[in-house]
Amino acid sequence: MTISPSIRGGPVEIAPSILSADFADLGREIAAVERGGADLIHVDVMDGHFVPNITIGPPVIRAIKRVATRPLDVHLMIEDPERYVDDFIGAGAAMLSVHVEAARHLHRTIAQIKARGAKAGAVLNPATPAFALEEIAAELDFVVVMSVNPGFGGQEFIPQSLEKLRRVRQILQRVGSSAPIEIDGGIDHANAASVVAAGASILVAGNAIFGAPDPEFATRALRAACSSVAPFPA
Ligand code: DX5
Ligand code: ZN
Repeated sequence: MTISPSIRGGPVEIAPSILSADFADLGREIAAVERGGADLIHVDVMDGHFVPNITIGPPVIRAIKRVATRPLDVHLMIEDPERYVDDFIGAGAAMLSVHVEAARHLHRTIAQIKARGAKAGAVLNPATPAFALEEIAAELDFVVVMSVNPGFGGQEFIPQSLEKLRRVRQILQRVGSSAPIEIDGGIDHANAASVVAAGASILVAGNAIFGAPDPEFATRALRAACSSVAPFPA
């Protein structure tokens, strides 16, 4: 495929996931990645039903919102996410994503998120085919491709996710959308360039950033690791 410079995707955005941060010192952890150039702060919400783990809810997001200077990208790994859209946006989510496997009326939930003024994203689990997005693609502000099974940080990147990224990009292109694709799970300095080449332009990283001795440096290093790759055409 020929890549015309005029239709290249936007710059890569780095979204550190606080799941691997020190929860007793979230303010300082967030300040460090922001100094390192984080574009977004990724917040993982888990309910113990859709995924086996339980994390945080709106009160903690409200507290993070007070200290973060970057937009909050809130990833809902919960059943019936439509019940909580208003709460999470009210708490400070600028981007809110829901799983296609959990949102029974996905079209309505996406509309609900947008009506409340946040950017709406749909998330695909590793076993969910890209074509699950076909009927909703035109409505989405962004797509999240899970490259691990959701629930825990520090898991290994699933290599088939690269092909999934290409397929999602084709589906978006077919409906004339240049919505960014976020990749979430197992992203590190070694695979960052390949996910950008395959179509991702928002890189979530938990363990690779907050598991590193210096999260500020690790944020900068992650961007550097993919800076020479031309993003896939939008
Ligand atoms: C997994 C979460 C991810 C997680 C990524 O369920 O959605 O956002 O924090 O962490 P790493 O980068 O460690 O795989
Ligand atoms: Zn996530």
